[in-house]
Amino acid sequence: MKFEKTKETLNQLVADLSQFAAVIHQTHWYMRGPEFLTLHPMMDDYMDEINDQLDEIAERLVALDGSPYSTLQEFADHTGIKDEVGTWDRSMSERLETLVSGYRYLADLYQKGIEISGEEGDDSTQDIFIAYKRDIEKNIWMIQAELGHAPNNDSEN
Ligand SMILES: [Fe+2]
Repeated sequence: MKFEKTKETLNQLVADLSQFAAVIHQTHWYMRGPEFLTLHPMMDDYMDEINDQLDEIAERLVALDGSPYSTLQEFADHTGIKDEVGTWDRSMSERLETLVSGYRYLADLYQKGIEISGEEGDDSTQDIFIAYKRDIEKNIWMIQAELGHAPNNDSEN
């Protein structure tokens, strides 16, 4: 079957982007602390971006004659991004660190997708993966800067 591994990666992304949208929504609702007035609306922008990626990825999968996951149960069964019941005991920094790890997971998965679609010769999907990985790396840089860290180093100031 043509582009089979690329399609598997697309569907993995459907599950993970759906899950991560919920994680961002939880952050939006449960955050308390410094910069709330800036960070709370920022989460709306992050969610919009992730939902745009989700729609584009799912529709690319359909264009390749694939079948995207489309139920909450399927997303939960297949995602590799953890979630947890919302609590009020997390600091603003902890919430942002959770976002960074989710974004890092997605950047790694996009990188894997870039390699797989390259091997299978699906340039059009690879183009999508490259653009979205770049967008996510920018988010990682910005959130890490807010936390006082270099983009790829959680201990450096
Ligand atoms: Fe809201």
